This record gives sequence, C-alpha cells and structure tokens, in this order.
Amino acid sequence: MKKITVLVSGGGTNLGALISACQNKKIQNGKISLVISSNPNAYAVERAKAADIKTAVVDRKQYSDVQKFNDRLLQELKKENPDIIVLAGFMCILDKRIIEHFENKIINVHPSLIPSFSGKGFYGLRVHEAALKRGVKFTGATVHFVNEIPDGGPIILQKCVPVYNNDTPEILQKRVMEQAEWLILPEAVSLICSEKINIKNNIVNIEV
Ligand code: GAR
Repeated sequence: MKKITVLVSGGGTNLGALISACQNKKIQNGKISLVISSNPNAYAVERAKAADIKTAVVDRKQYSDVQKFNDRLLQELKKENPDIIVLAGFMCILDKRIIEHFENKIINVHPSLIPSFSGKGFYGLRVHEAALKRGVKFTGATVHFVNEIPDGGPIILQKCVPVYNNDTPEILQKRVMEQAEWLILPEAVSLICSEKINIKNNIVNIEV
C-alpha cells in the first residue's frame, strides 16, 4: 500500500475526488495518510478531517522568507516519508531541495492543456481567464510530475474540455474540474500506486 500525502491551499475539490476514489476502490493500492495545507482556513482541511485523515498546516503567511516556509514543509514531508506527494490546488512553488529529495514522487494537477497557459503566474482562475482571452475552443487539465521547471515536468495524463461562447472564468473552471481534473487526478494516482508508470527521457510511458 503506497502512502500518499496531499498538499492543498484552498477548497480541496480535487482532494475530495481523491478521497472518494480511495473509498470506492478506484485507487486500490494507495492510502492518503496526511494532508498538509498552506492556508489554515482552507476548506480542504475540513474535508480531510471529515474523512479521518491526519492534517498539518504550514501557513505560508507566517513565513516572510519563502525558504523558511520550504524548510518547514520539507521537515513535515521527511517526517511522513510518503511514497507519493500530490499537489491538489497547492498554490506555492516547491523549492529545489523538496523536488530533489522526492524526485519523481511529486505530481501536480494543472487546469489547462500544458504547455498552454502554464508556468509562473498561471494558477487557479487566472488560467481560465487567459484561455478565454486567447479564444481557444478547447482547454482541459493535465496531471504531471513536478520538476524544477514550473508546470514543466513529464506529463502523465491530459483531458480535453470544450469552451463555449458565453463562458466566464468561473463557469469554465467548474467544467474543467468536473470533466477533467476530478477524473484524471485519481486515475494518475491509481496508475502510480499500481506501478504502471515509468519515465524515460522526460516522457511518461503507461503500461496497459
Ligand atoms: C484546481 O483547478 C487546480 O487545478 C488549480 O487550482 C484549483 C484548486 O481547486 N491548481 C493550480 O492552478 C496550480 N497551478 P481545489 O482546491 O478545489 O482542488
């Protein structure tokens, strides 16, 4: 059974999708043992508690120095020593030491089809605002491994979602979550837990 730690900052609907997938055995070889939030008021923390999952808060606002915030986070992660770390709406950039310590063990869900609308400054609603501004007819979500390039790690799964004429960023965000993120994030975690994924030359291969 793989030990999963989920990092969150906000509403935690992706965490909710992971919890449900564990409960109804869509994720069979994994268990969420810890949820860490960068925001003490995140609703995601309530979701974790309701599912009887251990929680920790490393409050980003308590640290003027981003390095000290990362020190504390690394300390919590080393203590837990998970097999997989999932960034599920985690709005802070992890530093090199964390990425190196947990190489190829950290994954992230991003609300666009990477490489579009990704990288520094593209997070949350901003991603959907940029997609609408560009006038793309399809967008979607991506689950990828985390490396030192923001949103630049090997891609595990992607799913496409249509954009409609009268979409607002909020409407589009909801469609991308419902039709893409909440499906591909648990699926990617399940694939990793069953050791069906390998990475070669920055490309993910999935065993079928
Ligand atoms: C999700 O849309 C997630 O893809 C996005 O923030 C939202 C969090 O929602 N993450 C990023 O933009 C990271 N770059 P949630 O808290 O309800 O899961």
